[in-house]
Amino acid sequence: MRVLVTGGAGFIGSHIVDLLVETGCLVSVADNLSSGRFENINPRVNFYKIDIREQALAEAIAREKPEVVIHLAAQADVQRSLNDPLTDAEINILGTIKLLNACAGCGVGKVVYASTAAGYGNPSYLPVDEDHPKKPQSPYGVSKYIVEHYLRVYKEISAINYTVLRFANVYGARQDSSGEGGVVAIFADKLLRGESPLIFGDGEQTRDFIYVKDVAAASIAALRRGDSGTFNVSTGAGLSVNHLFRELKKITGSELEPVYQPPRPGDITQSYMANESTCVSLAWKPRYSLAEGLRETVEFYRGRRG
Ligand SMILES: NC(=O)c1ccc[n+]([C@@H]2O[C@H](COP(=O)([O-])OP(=O)(O)OC[C@H]3O[C@@H](n4cnc5c(N)ncnc54)[C@H](O)[C@@H]3O)[C@@H](O)[C@H]2O)c1
Repeated sequence: MRVLVTGGAGFIGSHIVDLLVETGCLVSVADNLSSGRFENINPRVNFYKIDIREQALAEAIAREKPEVVIHLAAQADVQRSLNDPLTDAEINILGTIKLLNACAGCGVGKVVYASTAAGYGNPSYLPVDEDHPKKPQSPYGVSKYIVEHYLRVYKEISAINYTVLRFANVYGARQDSSGEGGVVAIFADKLLRGESPLIFGDGEQTRDFIYVKDVAAASIAALRRGDSGTFNVSTGAGLSVNHLFRELKKITGSELEPVYQPPRPGDITQSYMANESTCVSLAWKPRYSLAEGLRETVEFYRGRRG
């Protein structure tokens, strides 16, 4: 199968690309390298260094003729979306519309879209299933969620099939450990440097941490399944930040303790997402235990330091 991945130089996208290549797909990547890295890109793909807002994207799609586009390219920084909602919308909404127009013009059969739990906002019940009310709390959550509606409408007007995947908290190798990166990347990096990580609040807040290779497997399952469907990609279980810290402490062999800080305003206390419908419709389930996922992640950060 011919697949084009937008954002394929990024954290999640590069793992999806690696798995696509491994399964024998002909893969191309479109990425402007704004947060992605050239060294993440699998050498067996055709790489286009382009912005999804540029006409060059349509040219790349016309040349590559993918059957499916997996769309991950996004402004994915919540804080940046609060500081600059216009740029967030230009990339996440207008950039996606340009992509959909290009797909419609080139006969792309399907778009698999990387959406987010941020679209739900604060959970009003647990586990959060796909029908949970959508009350995004940031411009990022809004821009990512709006695209889900465009996909539905484009299916009607242009016959482009789609599957929406709403990712929980993804962790694994290549995640940015600076700035706003995921908590696993930040903790692992800090512990390996011999620095105490900060925990905001009492650490008993839970999140649904899903390993990036399980996310890649779900994305590939969606190439052929889940048409017109929306699915959480999650473990279905909440894990406290304290538990996560203890696991990472064991794996890194660190003696350090975290430094507790007051909770941040607006922080959600409990969150995890149902995945039953995903398991059935995509014939997928998370395969990595927390210990396996964290071990591989720590190995990556250790290697990068060494
Ligand atoms: N990391 C998570 O836990 C998580 C959770 C839910 C959803 N997501 C979604 O998954 C996707 C990938 O996220 P990630 O964590 O790998 O982030 P990332 O920043 O590593 O990946 C985004 C990629 O898109 C590229 N990009 C950004 N703007 C672009 C543009 N205008 N044109 C072309 N390329 C552009 C970046 O260079 C980068 O390679 C995003 O759509 C994000 O919203 C991530």
